[in-house]
Amino acid sequence: MSRWSFVGRTDELDRLLSAVTGTEGRGLFFSGSAGIGKSRLLREGVAALPRDRYAVWWIAASATTAALPFGGLVQVLPAEQPQGLSPAGILRWAVDVLQQQAAGRRIVLAIDDAHLLDPPSAALVHLVARADNATVIGTLRDGEQLPLPIRALWTDDLVDHVELNPLAPAETTRLLSEILDGPVDATSADRLGRLSAGNPLLLRELVFAADRGELTRTYGIWKWTGRLELAPNLTDLIDTRIGQLTPGVRAVVELVAFGEPLGLHLLNQAVDPADVELAEERGLIVVVRDDRRANVRLAHPLYGEVMRRRCPVSRTRRLQARLAELLEQVGKRRRDDLLRVAVWRLDSGTAQDPALLLDAAGQAFARYDVPLATRLARAALDAGGGFDAAELLATILMFADRPDEAIEVLDAVSADIRGDRRLSRWLTVRGMVSYWGLSRESTVEEIAARRSTLADSADQARVLAFEGIMRLHRLDTGIALRLGQTVLDRPAASVAARELARSTIAYLQAAQGQLHRSATAINQVQAEAGRWRADMPYLQLALELARGTRLALAGDLAGIDAIVADEFADLAGAGDFRLGTGYLAILQAYAARLRGQSDAALRTSLEACAVLATSRVYAGLAQAERAQAAALRGDGAQAAEAMAEADRTHAPGMAVLYPWLEQARGAVLAAGGDVPGAVKHLTGLADRLRADGFAGHEVHVLHDLVRLDRATAPIGPICSDGSRRTVAQRLAELSERVDGDLPPLLARHARAAAGDSADELLAVADGFEALDLAVYAAEAAAAALDRLRRRRSPAAAAARERLAALLGRCDLIRTPALQAGAPALTEREWQVARLAADGVTSRAIAERLYLSARTVENHLQRIYSKLGVAGRAELRAALRAIPGHEGGESE
Ligand SMILES: Nc1ncnc2c1ncn2[C@@H]1O[C@H](COP(=O)(O)OP(=O)(O)OP(=O)(O)O)[C@@H](O)[C@H]1O
Ligand SMILES: [Mg+2]
Repeated sequence: MSRWSFVGRTDELDRLLSAVTGTEGRGLFFSGSAGIGKSRLLREGVAALPRDRYAVWWIAASATTAALPFGGLVQVLPAEQPQGLSPAGILRWAVDVLQQQAAGRRIVLAIDDAHLLDPPSAALVHLVARADNATVIGTLRDGEQLPLPIRALWTDDLVDHVELNPLAPAETTRLLSEILDGPVDATSADRLGRLSAGNPLLLRELVFAADRGELTRTYGIWKWTGRLELAPNLTDLIDTRIGQLTPGVRAVVELVAFGEPLGLHLLNQAVDPADVELAEERGLIVVVRDDRRANVRLAHPLYGEVMRRRCPVSRTRRLQARLAELLEQVGKRRRDDLLRVAVWRLDSGTAQDPALLLDAAGQAFARYDVPLATRLARAALDAGGGFDAAELLATILMFADRPDEAIEVLDAVSADIRGDRRLSRWLTVRGMVSYWGLSRESTVEEIAARRSTLADSADQARVLAFEGIMRLHRLDTGIALRLGQTVLDRPAASVAARELARSTIAYLQAAQGQLHRSATAINQVQAEAGRWRADMPYLQLALELARGTRLALAGDLAGIDAIVADEFADLAGAGDFRLGTGYLAILQAYAARLRGQSDAALRTSLEACAVLATSRVYAGLAQAERAQAAALRGDGAQAAEAMAEADRTHAPGMAVLYPWLEQARGAVLAAGGDVPGAVKHLTGLADRLRADGFAGHEVHVLHDLVRLDRATAPIGPICSDGSRRTVAQRLAELSERVDGDLPPLLARHARAAAGDSADELLAVADGFEALDLAVYAAEAAAAALDRLRRRRSPAAAAARERLAALLGRCDLIRTPALQAGAPALTEREWQVARLAADGVTSRAIAERLYLSARTVENHLQRIYSKLGVAGRAELRAALRAIPGHEGGESE
């Protein structure tokens, strides 16, 4: 097994190193549970010590060495010990040996698992720790007996003693990527991190125990879909922790394993309270008190895995049925009690009540727990739940990316469609599955035709609302708007139908640049969530799409951060509600991209592609965002590849997303070096957006043309005076129609570029920076610098500093706007320039590069003139202002 790199623990490592290298010379011991990473930390610390100043001995105590006197120090002391010395004499001899070998360097004893030291070794360690020129560091495992001389190390104040904590979630995620040698999707990392409770050894075992099919890689991102399989190692590890249990304590742990979190009150009714106390004392369970109840959980999530795995099927079922009974007896009090009872009934094979199952399935779906909702709805249908169960199951299957099964389920109950209510529900669910799940665009006409047979206004409104949002997606925007309005005008419409219609309208308003009105509508949909969630949980997607589009078009990156951090994102991630997770990841990538965080943008967009790979709804959009991220990094090949994927996966029924895809295509062309092609494409796109009335998108596309230095290019139709508007003029015009702070800034950027005003460009850069739009800010500053340099203006130096600072905030970014003015240095010139910027003299540069001093001088002169700087003093900033280079380092 290859050893992966060390992750995190920077504070602990610093602390360990300063324990050795600090002036006080006090040592340090880490305590912690098995596998938490003590040995590894110690080894990393020791490896970092310079051997010319420290004589380091590594001592690994073990059960074998513990049985022999000085067994722990076999690696340290000479094999031959002098005969006839008293025990104290041997100790003194051993210290002398160490002093001799150290030859004046500071002695460092690093003792792994010091609790396993044999008594004489422990005594020697204590003695060494007392010496002035020695430091002792080491590890101890929690809960073990300690040799007295070791414990005396801190009671005598010779060393510090600290607890090594579990890895933080972000560190677990990084460790996972190390173990798997590639990034891991956020949900899997979260699940595995939680199961391992930040313990690296458990994490490793969990990953190695996973079956091949359970760990899959899509677009480079690992995903863990597995039920957990416990490797023998892991089970042993946990067995030693759980130990032998009396039947009473076992009953407690088992009930908690199947029922956690379990009310203490409930548990005490089922078992002997004395056994509950015993289990708590032994550290097997913990009692967590929140405001009103005391809940019991297992002390480690993996205990539950082992207990559940070990429990025979018949016993498991008995326990689950018992739990269901208990909860039914005390009465279901909390909202999720019903769900828990249903799951226990289902798992124990005692679920006979379709109404209970259906209710529970609805609850699970309302929390976006797709797998659980699927199971419960399927069980409800099997238990005789009929039409309602079929409707719910089909809806959930659609969001589990299983549209074919969904259609089957629906068609099987088509004979049960009695009455308009059922017909309207059946039509809408079937329409949704067929339109989005199977990409059948004719669905719209089909449901429109049957809609008119419905007599009841509320039933009609529901179908109208669905037809409206489908029409929106396939770009029948005029009809979509009218249908949405019709629904809002019908007092009989249900809350869900009304809010779905409002989401449709909010989306259109955003695309049209009416961002304020769109925000008002979105807030209204959100405010009604409590009234539509149970009926139509997936309305959240329509809401997120409208909201996300609005925020993206407004350039409101903080707003995007907020929804990405919102509860829905967590629920969707945990419940495998992929369309939700995937869409939010796209938004997150977008925000990272505009901030110039190109690493995060690429990684997150890849994650989105991976999550969305099984459905066609947002797959094209995710690929387009990936293409943008790659283009931002100047990676034309990956950008083109992602764009091709976007075209392959984009569903025609998602036509409304074309502005994003086509905007990406422009960026891809430019990144591939075809700037004229990109300009032509974006010009055509701007015309199309204008014709479609999508002013909210149009301003961004026009701004892309400004970024490609086309502020003065003609655009749009020929006006009555026979001339055409320029990009800058059209932007100025739109900035008065499109809401928000951004359009005036985009227009100002265009005006400054058209007027060649460096001062204005710098002011625009400030404006972009204030909105956190770092890429645009850097591009505006680069354009200013380019103009100043060409005029040989003394203000260039300040502009260069400004650009360098902006680029310093970004990861690698390489856009045409940044490249355009950037001076092109040859490889040789780069080498010379970097060294000179680092303060290496010309003579030393000449020696290092095997050149004559004169040649170096010639190079430098050429470099200065290319960069437009007066001399060495400005060189560093000038190099840093060149995008895509670590300008300051001479490696
Ligand atoms: N910060 C880390 N980065 C990378 N790998 C780690 C890290 N911490 C621990 N590991 C790996 O996790 C595994 C367990 O760590 P380690 O052996 O250090 O645990 P331990 O606390 O010493 O356990 P024990 O009490 O059993 O001795 C090892 O394979 C180790 O390399
Ligand atoms: Mg260890």
